[in-house]
Amino acid sequence: MASTHNEFYALMLVVVVGSMVASCGANFNQDFDLTWGDHRAKIFNGGQLLSLSLDKVSGSGFQSKKEYLFGRIDMQLKLVAGNSAGTVTAYYLSSQGPTHDEIDFEFLGNVSGDPYILHTNVFTKGQGNREQQFYLWFDPTRNFHTYSIIWKPQHIIFLVDNIPIRVFKNAETIGVPFPKNQPMRIYSSLWNADDWATRGGLVKTDWSKAPFTAYYRNFKATEFSTSSSNSFSDAAWQSNELDAYGRRRLRWAQKYFMIYNYCNDLKRFPQGIPAECRR
Ligand SMILES: *[C@@H]1O[C@H](CO)[C@@H](O)[C@H](O)[C@H]1NC(C)=O
Repeated sequence: MASTHNEFYALMLVVVVGSMVASCGANFNQDFDLTWGDHRAKIFNGGQLLSLSLDKVSGSGFQSKKEYLFGRIDMQLKLVAGNSAGTVTAYYLSSQGPTHDEIDFEFLGNVSGDPYILHTNVFTKGQGNREQQFYLWFDPTRNFHTYSIIWKPQHIIFLVDNIPIRVFKNAETIGVPFPKNQPMRIYSSLWNADDWATRGGLVKTDWSKAPFTAYYRNFKATEFSTSSSNSFSDAAWQSNELDAYGRRRLRWAQKYFMIYNYCNDLKRFPQGIPAECRR
């Protein structure tokens, strides 16, 4: 009996480990390219830390060398401190082309002491218009916090410090496209958008405070294998659904911190709210 059990557990272990391609400690030099902004994008501490900055001339950005098709992506960010009004720090996954898919975090800066807005969106086949916005329950400029995306064939989950704030479910059965065929890269950029970002564009960037700088560390990508038709790995895959605790945290974040939800914006969709909101 015992040996049967041991064999079973050994098999389980092989299956579980096999279904997650290893994701070793981040090294920005290895995993990312600095794509624009010249000296404004920097990697230091031997690849452990990355910074982007923005001045009156330009912003800056980076992107992952690899493309991902499903997985969990974690990154710690410390946002532009002080008067960050008009600045936007975008951190997202995206494929290429006119019918691209995209999963977005965007951090809209504010004047000192006023709250950032965390803006989220999901594009499928080139179409977005699925914004949800949140305040954060902490000051995102004081310390690093972890922002994560779990992307599976069944759903996309946005997390902040491991607390789920948004779930976008696969609703293909009711005709809503879901990102599942186009691999995506990770992108980030820091740029100026003072025509809309802060209080809808009322507050402009104070360039006397430039350069504005955001920091990144502890990148981690965990890829889920999609090739296996093994029922054990299907089980491992499913077990990452939100449990009761996760669902409670999600409700908490949405109840107390969500400030905009496209699903409730009836004015914007006179022909009726999008299908995925009606379920
Ligand atoms: C900035 O602060 C104002 C006042 O508290 C608030 O209405 C707004 O949502 C904040 N965030 C942004 C990005 O405008």
